[in-house]
Amino acid sequence: MARDVIVACDFPTREETLAFLDKFTGRKPFVKIGMELFYAEGPQIVREIKARGHRIFLDLKLHDIPNTVGRAMAVLSRLDVDICNLHASGTIAMMEAALRGLTRPDGTRPLLIAVTQLTSTDQQRMEDELMIHAPIDQVVLHYAQNARTAGLDGVVCSPLESGKVHEACGEGFLTVTPGVRFAEGEKGDQKRVTTPAQARELGSDYIVVGRPITASPDPVAAYERCLREFLGE
Ligand code: C5P
Repeated sequence: MARDVIVACDFPTREETLAFLDKFTGRKPFVKIGMELFYAEGPQIVREIKARGHRIFLDLKLHDIPNTVGRAMAVLSRLDVDICNLHASGTIAMMEAALRGLTRPDGTRPLLIAVTQLTSTDQQRMEDELMIHAPIDQVVLHYAQNARTAGLDGVVCSPLESGKVHEACGEGFLTVTPGVRFAEGEKGDQKRVTTPAQARELGSDYIVVGRPITASPDPVAAYERCLREFLGE
């Protein structure tokens, strides 16, 4: 799959989301639908955005017992999205069940990627609350390798981790990376950020960009700038 910019549609309603997408009259962005919009509007919003011709990353981060996740993934695969995800901490057995559930009777399936450690979790919290004592970058790589062992297609990670993930799991293992900002932009609550051009240099396969596009006075221009910087178009 080619490298691309994924726009995070972090909106609370169908109306706001469609009004935002209506601005894009040329190239239709690859969009990310997260928990906020999915829980507000249900699967219909996914079908509606798909019918408008967008590719979709459904970011629901599943984490439960293998049987439950496998059955939930079977339901999600019928929505015909392009990428789904889950938490690698659910274990290899859970990831394998997810992959089986996601695979349609004809053998096709959406790509499946794993969250390793959330970027909101730091070393201190991981040690104190989760009782994980290895360095966090090793934990991230170990979880990425578990995802690879389970047969997944890639991970969500920081662009700063893309190189190491590719080294450990292979160049074909996808890195889907949030935490992207324009050089002069506001960081918001993202801590370790890169520009789209740096993300390209570091080897990200997809960048996930929210507020630099959704909160811009000219979202289409901001999206096109991301494409130019990330794809070198
Ligand atoms: O607005 P911003 O560009 O920060 O949006 C980034 C998107 O990526 C948000 O939807 C956020 O939930 C998601 N994300 C993230 N960091 C992670 C995983 C997902 O920022 N580790």
